[in-house]
Amino acid sequence: MAMAAALVVFLLAAGVGRSEGAVYKVGDAVGWTILGSPNYTAWSLSKNFKMGDTIVFEYSKNIHNVLEVSKADYDACTATSPMATYTSGNDSIAMKTKGHRYFICGIPGHCSAGQRVDIRVSKPSSAAPAYPPSRVGSSGGSSGGISTPAAAPRSSGGPRCVAKVFVIGLAVFSFAAVSGGLVRR
Ligand SMILES: *[C@@H]1O[C@H](CO)[C@@H](O)[C@H](O)[C@H]1NC(C)=O
Ligand SMILES: *[C@@H]1O[C@H](CO)[C@@H](O)[C@H](O)[C@H]1NC(C)=O
Repeated sequence: MAMAAALVVFLLAAGVGRSEGAVYKVGDAVGWTILGSPNYTAWSLSKNFKMGDTIVFEYSKNIHNVLEVSKADYDACTATSPMATYTSGNDSIAMKTKGHRYFICGIPGHCSAGQRVDIRVSKPSSAAPAYPPSRVGSSGGSSGGISTPAAAPRSSGGPRCVAKVFVIGLAVFSFAAVSGGLVRR
């Protein structure tokens, strides 16, 4: 029950920012190549990657590939111990976690020629509460008080709100039942 409620809260929070992730083609029109020495660092810095986004590497699969590597291997252009290898020529990779993801081309000489990209994925922008803040404010009393305790109930507020509504509903129902009985008499 608590887990289901937490899941609902999480889904609501995740859905506030964007309903579905954006798709970014690495290098935009030029794709994943060494021709013209695209600056993939500049390309990456010009984007704002979020969790849930997808990046797509498009390239000629006969002359390039995509290796996901550690930061050390990215820095050193080491292609011998990739965490993942992609070779389709049209690889979609989901950015599910926050933090840096490092990709290089594993063909000798390509990474050091600049065919590598550092994708920095940030959290979804809106970490807005899943229900109106007014409820948080009303329980915290009037203005001026120390506001930090109001932040604590946020994560567990969902189920509590439901319980509160249920209790109020029950009270109204019993009152109506009692007064209805009185009128009939
Ligand atoms: C690529 O772009 C980055 C960020 O703008 C810059 O710091 C770097 O010097 C550029 N690299 C080359 C080789 O031009
Ligand atoms: C890559 O795949 C996407 C769909 O996932 C498709 O729209 C696109 O046309 C493909 N590109 C190439 C060059 O095959």
